[in-house]
Amino acid sequence: MIETLDRALSRVQGLLADPQLVRRICLSGRARGRKPDQIRVDIRPVALKSGLYWQMVSHDGERDITKNVAVDQLSIKELFALGYANILIESTSQELSLRLTKSGDARVSTRQVALEKAELSHDRAKERLLGADDEIFTELGISDYSGKLKPSRSNKFIQVQEFLKILKHSIDERVEKSQELKVIDLGCGHAYLTLAAHKYLTNRGYKVNTLGIDERQESRERNISLVEKLRLSKEISFHATKIANLDLMSVDIVISLHACDTASDDAISWAVKSGAEMILVAPCCHHDIQKQMRTPPSPWNIATKHGIINQRVGDIITDSIRAAVLKILGYRTDIIEFVAGEHTPKNLMIRAIRTGTPAQSGDIQELKQTIAQWKIEPALITRLKDELSVRLG
Ligand SMILES: C[S@@+](CC[C@H](N)C(=O)[O-])C[C@H]1O[C@@H](n2cnc3c(N)ncnc32)[C@H](O)[C@@H]1O
Repeated sequence: MIETLDRALSRVQGLLADPQLVRRICLSGRARGRKPDQIRVDIRPVALKSGLYWQMVSHDGERDITKNVAVDQLSIKELFALGYANILIESTSQELSLRLTKSGDARVSTRQVALEKAELSHDRAKERLLGADDEIFTELGISDYSGKLKPSRSNKFIQVQEFLKILKHSIDERVEKSQELKVIDLGCGHAYLTLAAHKYLTNRGYKVNTLGIDERQESRERNISLVEKLRLSKEISFHATKIANLDLMSVDIVISLHACDTASDDAISWAVKSGAEMILVAPCCHHDIQKQMRTPPSPWNIATKHGIINQRVGDIITDSIRAAVLKILGYRTDIIEFVAGEHTPKNLMIRAIRTGTPAQSGDIQELKQTIAQWKIEPALITRLKDELSVRLG
């Protein structure tokens, strides 16, 4: 239903009258020509010693800033005026989504739900999205059979948890919410992330169909017996193939954690060609461009003559080019540290959400110049030659 923005925002404000019935509020997206400082704000009621407050967690793409606001001081109109395009409110009885239209009105849709009241404890943010005692972690060998995290596996556990948090933030931003999701994990290895993402999304109420891809047949066999044990084989399947040989298919979310070297380029190009709505790729080692960086443009030799710096410059150029390509191909893209460096040195993630926004000439020029100056042929550009040719010429 389309209504005036003012009216819709008043209706939204009305839903906040009893904070205890509100489970969460999320402001996200960008209004035309606007760029809010924070890419999203999540709000929920919290009970503190001094009473009930709204806890506002603003997310700038890398870190969360938390602020508590008195219950009668929260103005949705003022927050929305910072430049957001969407509001989602989940209460115990309804879910309302408001989306700013091109003409400045509001498209509002509501859905009846019957949900429990929100957990009001202040420390909830520290909780894991999936507990270490979840049976998937026991079967994966990350936790022991009493549900306790094995210290030797804590880095993988934390990588997966932090990856899930980014998935959560990204999925909350979807405005057109189909309740069915097709998820593909490219380079899934032992399926830690595959199973965790599937379980997390299922717990959130989505009907999820998940496919894990790895070139190793042993991984496939091991993973299949694991999902049989977990009674998930109807919903999760595995296929042993190189990503580059995988048939294109319709998919909502592509995830990939530490697919080696150009396997991350295979994952990104496969996702783009399949029209994936969301791509979350945390790359691993980067050799492709490093090997090609023989004639650095002046004055970069000051850095590249040192082996370790050369390697890091190579990493930066590789991921920057990946992000640039995704943006040019119509994805809102950013690069974030998805997990602290102490849990893995490979802690960058390229996050891309399909918007269909036309390529900007400035982005195309930057990409062309980078390639020309470094005299490199990035693997991703080779793989997406046809898709990019229209834009790069
Ligand atoms: C470092 S492991 C990461 C596994 C898993 N994502 C995780 O984080 O635990 C990389 C995985 O990618 C797989 N892989 C590498 N290149 C691949 C390719 N071109 N196609 C499919 N799988 C590939 C490897 O077999 C390996 O299991």
